[in-house]
Amino acid sequence: MPRTPFLAGNWKMYKTGAEAVSFIEAAKPLLAGITGREAAVAVPFTAIAEAARAASGTGILIGAQNVHWEREGAYTGEISTGMVKAAGASFVILGHSERRQFFGDTDEWVAKKLQAVLEASLVPVVCVGETLAQRESGDTFRILASQLKGSLAGLNAERAAPLVVAYEPVWAIGTGKTATAVQAQEVHAFLRAELATLLGEKTASATRLLYGGSVKPDNVKSLLSEADIDGALVGGAALKPDSFAQIVKFDS
Ligand code: PGA
Repeated sequence: MPRTPFLAGNWKMYKTGAEAVSFIEAAKPLLAGITGREAAVAVPFTAIAEAARAASGTGILIGAQNVHWEREGAYTGEISTGMVKAAGASFVILGHSERRQFFGDTDEWVAKKLQAVLEASLVPVVCVGETLAQRESGDTFRILASQLKGSLAGLNAERAAPLVVAYEPVWAIGTGKTATAVQAQEVHAFLRAELATLLGEKTASATRLLYGGSVKPDNVKSLLSEADIDGALVGGAALKPDSFAQIVKFDS
């Protein structure tokens, strides 16, 4: 089964609902008639409903950047899977390095959020990635193996079908320093082998592995031409409709 390329923007803390609508309106004609891939944007919670309405019928998927693992409760400031789903989200980014670094998300939390996301029939995009210090000290593979195992704890092959994993080296996020296609492929092949150990060969070969970290229109094609790179998670370059559209059309 070929893996459908998944090109996802991560808007982080950018754009109001109205700005999201303008983006979608501008992206629509640029992406008209595009097939053979999924285009997606993870928007701020407050923009999900408007973005989803604007994107309806376009094939552009709207997602959230985080969720809480409980369905509801006394958790001031948190948002549940049911809430993002009702607002129109179809996928959720989990364990982004900015969440891990600034907001205390741990592998254990990511694993709990993953269960909640699957329970709600949303697509999880689980992020892993090493820091520069970890790479330079030769710890990359050990760190990634441990993040992957910890973040997928409790997942079994029967429930893993929608799983998407994003490899985002922390040193490449927002820095303009992209991993080379060869560096990224090396890690993706490793992650796929780890997935095979954790969830079996079948799940490993069906799971889409995205690369993220300074993906731009001019490097996306070479990254996606690697055997184990099935898509991209894009921050800065996904904030403008034209560069987002160029990334979605990576092979044209
Ligand atoms: P960037 O961000 O493309 O701006 O490096 C990627 C991400 O954080 O998902």
